[in-house]
Amino acid sequence: MQALPAKAMVKNMEKSIQMERLTLGVCYYPEHWPESMWEEDLDRMMAAGITVCRVAEFAWSKFERTEGVFTFDFFDRFLDLAEKKGMKVIFCTPTATPPAWLTEKYPEVLNALRDGTLVRHGMRCHCSHTSPVFLRLCARVVEEIAAHYGKHPAIIGWQIDNEINCETNLYHSESDSLAFREYLKGKFGTLERLNEAMGTVFWNQEYTDWNEIFVARPTLADSPNPHLLLEQKKFVSESAIAFFKLQADILKKYRKPGDFITTNGMFGHLDYRELNRRALDFITYDSYPNFFFAMGTETNGNASPTGKLKDRANGLSLSRVRSVSPNFGIMEQQSGGGGWQTRLTQPAPLPGQLRLWAYQSIAHGADFISFFRWRTCTVGTEIYWNGILSWDNRDSRQLEEVKQMQGEIQGLSGLTGSKYRAKVAVGYHYQSEWDGEGDVFHGPLSGPSVMNWFYACQISHTPMDLLCLDEEVTLETLLDYELLVLPHIALLPDSLCDLLEAYVSQGGRVIFGARTGFKDEFGRCPMRPTPGAAARLVGGSVRDYTLVPEDRAAGITLFGEEVSMPLLHEVLEEADGEVLARYHGTAYYDGSPAVLRKRTGKGEALYFGAAFSEEAALVLLRYAGLTEACGEVLTLPPEIEYAPREKAGKTFRFLLNYTGKPQSFRCEKPLTDLLTGEPHNGDSILPPFGVMVLEE
Ligand code: GAL
Repeated sequence: MQALPAKAMVKNMEKSIQMERLTLGVCYYPEHWPESMWEEDLDRMMAAGITVCRVAEFAWSKFERTEGVFTFDFFDRFLDLAEKKGMKVIFCTPTATPPAWLTEKYPEVLNALRDGTLVRHGMRCHCSHTSPVFLRLCARVVEEIAAHYGKHPAIIGWQIDNEINCETNLYHSESDSLAFREYLKGKFGTLERLNEAMGTVFWNQEYTDWNEIFVARPTLADSPNPHLLLEQKKFVSESAIAFFKLQADILKKYRKPGDFITTNGMFGHLDYRELNRRALDFITYDSYPNFFFAMGTETNGNASPTGKLKDRANGLSLSRVRSVSPNFGIMEQQSGGGGWQTRLTQPAPLPGQLRLWAYQSIAHGADFISFFRWRTCTVGTEIYWNGILSWDNRDSRQLEEVKQMQGEIQGLSGLTGSKYRAKVAVGYHYQSEWDGEGDVFHGPLSGPSVMNWFYACQISHTPMDLLCLDEEVTLETLLDYELLVLPHIALLPDSLCDLLEAYVSQGGRVIFGARTGFKDEFGRCPMRPTPGAAARLVGGSVRDYTLVPEDRAAGITLFGEEVSMPLLHEVLEEADGEVLARYHGTAYYDGSPAVLRKRTGKGEALYFGAAFSEEAALVLLRYAGLTEACGEVLTLPPEIEYAPREKAGKTFRFLLNYTGKPQSFRCEKPLTDLLTGEPHNGDSILPPFGVMVLEE
């Protein structure tokens, strides 16, 4: 992907939602209900403090029921009513669900499975974003919608499409292969260069004509050329961004000043930072914390039997959203149980959890919360995705929780625009992740390691960010953090190592995990010692490595504590670095270096030759002196999440209790709960699923 010239780059960090005050919204589908219900629905929403509706993301046929014949009266009536009631509207482009006439008349727009079978009308997201016909028809309907509704006073912003790449993030239509060839031609210029970069010399895969190249097709053992598959994912991301840019450019012509353009994510094979830079004003996210429970096997409200904090693992996703837009919106906040008729069986949120989960999003940087959805649909695949109200339309406990929030958020008037404050960042790198999906020698390390850092940070009250390691990162960004963890960035660019060296020289601390930097940008293994350019920073390199079955994983003693070394072991060799720990167990490399450290300037870099267990992360956090970030003000049990948001010298300290039991904590200073106005000093109790936002 072509890097943007540094000067022209609009930074993601400047692309945040701008809300005057914390705002509640809801996803509403006027087309699902008799028109006679709209007025009462809007009145009930307003009475519960819901002042924004998101509409129309699946409603193409309301605008173009017949090809080329556009009608607007349906949403004219809805928007006018909304305006009358004081309800603001986020209007969506309906391109995730093209109508039946379209896909029947132009089957070339359809996405296909890898074997070429077309995916047909009847679900959603079934078109390919590279089909010229689809792009033309999308551009036309968006232009018609934007031209007609763009100046409507009820509208405050636009959502493009809906959850792109959510049902699939791979595309195999003919148009994809054609567009992929153009992408490759543009990138590599000649077949010779393409063949070289894609390693096609292996197994005689050389291409002698561009027309021989396709997006991945069925192969034996389901193992197409890995370098080309990685390139295909970069191409999927580029195609999606171009699709958004096409729509955003149209919307920009017609929107009112101040109206925003966003989309809801986040899904695979899409570089959301690049998307945000090129096409959006900020990102929104759809937050469904229940997806993080082992579905159907776990009881909400009890600590999970594994001790893993599944009930709050969603916070990790929210941290990733924050790495795109520091302040974001939640376009869909789970308000009921799931799911479809056929899958996604999720328990209903327990009393208190709707509110808790909404505050979890807010604690992590959301300034807008729109619940999914106002009322459960009575038809279709999602008749079990429960809304605030059920089919019976009676007032519900969920509605009560929304109303409770309506009152409480009045106390959070200064919150919007405040930033989640972390001193620890865990890096991620899109290309390494995409490569890792198809590489069992490094891909499976990242998920557990990142989760374990997250768990360790959570239970030790160490606020943590995720940091995208792309070309936008500057030394200044890095210096915001005292500790950077780069778990297993296999495709670590050399240029980033220069930046990391400057960061360390100025006092930063970096910890690399196994398999760092052993591949180049195409996923090939250059003939040099691992971790590549990072070797000079850590003062040593990898001599040998092996995957390890669970029963053969060795341990180490690190800073006096026993630490397990899961999944993969690298046998290290020091150069000008020092050995901090050696393997002990029963392996042939017992006694060999497992952790290295090298000091440069005012800082240091560590290399950790395995995946990270939770205890390893905890030991390293303690070593860095970063745990219990709120220690002077609060003493908290591990069951409570601590999340600080800061603005203009003021700190909003969020406390969230994910358990169904009361939790005791201590205020070391007099504090006030902004949600209730109540003072707290000394010993205090956070009720089951309780939330407080404490201020000094
Ligand atoms: C989201 C999607 C919604 C709805 C919801 C519940 O992913 O945007 O349209 O499907 O999940 O499944």
